[in-house]
Amino acid sequence: MIDGHGRRIDYLRVSVTERCNYRCFYCMPDGTAPCSRRAETLTTAELTRLVALFAALGVRKVRLTGGEPLVRRDLPELVAGLRNLPGIEDLSLSTNGHLLAAQAAKLKAAGLDRVNVSLDTLDPAIFAGITGQDAVAHVLAGIEAARAAGLTPIKVNTVVLKGVNDSEIEPLLDYAVVRGLELRFIESMPMGAGSTLAERHFYPAEAILERVRTYCGADLIPVKGGRGAGPARYYQMGAGPARVGVISAVSQHFCASCNRVRLTATGDLILCMGQEGAVPLGGLMRAGASDPELRAAILAGIARKPERHDLATTNSPHTMFMLGG
Ligand code: 5AD
Ligand code: SF4
Repeated sequence: MIDGHGRRIDYLRVSVTERCNYRCFYCMPDGTAPCSRRAETLTTAELTRLVALFAALGVRKVRLTGGEPLVRRDLPELVAGLRNLPGIEDLSLSTNGHLLAAQAAKLKAAGLDRVNVSLDTLDPAIFAGITGQDAVAHVLAGIEAARAAGLTPIKVNTVVLKGVNDSEIEPLLDYAVVRGLELRFIESMPMGAGSTLAERHFYPAEAILERVRTYCGADLIPVKGGRGAGPARYYQMGAGPARVGVISAVSQHFCASCNRVRLTATGDLILCMGQEGAVPLGGLMRAGASDPELRAAILAGIARKPERHDLATTNSPHTMFMLGG
């Protein structure tokens, strides 16, 4: 699939539920909560049918997201179904890690390749302040379980928030480097309900990199090939093998190399995380659309994928827990 700006779209992020067992303040501030009715959430058969259409159109990488994907009960069945689709080369999952210790082995057995785990801090009090749950130990156990199960390489994602967890940059580097985990620091993006808080605590990628430079006492060497398959820019820390990534969606957007679209848990195809514009594939499917009709709707959407977001100046109309990160 080539969009209207010449970009090849081969990556689909699929939100499997809006629900989450955390309430990160920049994602679900007080008073916000998942809003779609449970009956609107697509079934495993429906999600698999849609992903199969995308795979037939050239999608090669699928990432399951949420909300928190592990709160969906039939997740292993969904993973197994997607694993069997021809064309899917990389099947991964983004999780907050809370339930990972219990589920890592089962997900691996179902065919999941790897996981990204969100971890904004190692400090129990800061963790509780961000997520509303005193549960950092669960996440750390989840990461160990994922490693033991072979859900590797594991990436750890940290949203850096000024005055909240920016003190955790160095402890997280210590933690990740020793364990050979790929750590990525993420700028907070002004998404939907959380945009005011995301802006208030914005911490720019350049400032993050300066802290990393001071931490390792050496130059950061940009890793050749730039950003791999995704939006992170990677740096080698001095002469050692350790790498760190930054995702600067706000201060330095990477829309020119965008390769992705998103599917919400109710089957809306979201063309850009920062712009209006969706194709109601779930609604069309439930109204009886055939595979060729759905395929035509997907292609029409891809053709009008926006050129870029404007998150540096404009808040996203989308809410992160619906969009899936
Ligand atoms: N800006 C940047 N990252 C965010 N996430 C959630 N909301 C935001 C935001 N406003 C992150 C989560 C998780 C990933 C799925 O998205 O912390 O790491
Ligand atoms: Fe849940 Fe992730 Fe949102 Fe936190 S950022 S509330 S873990 S969906």
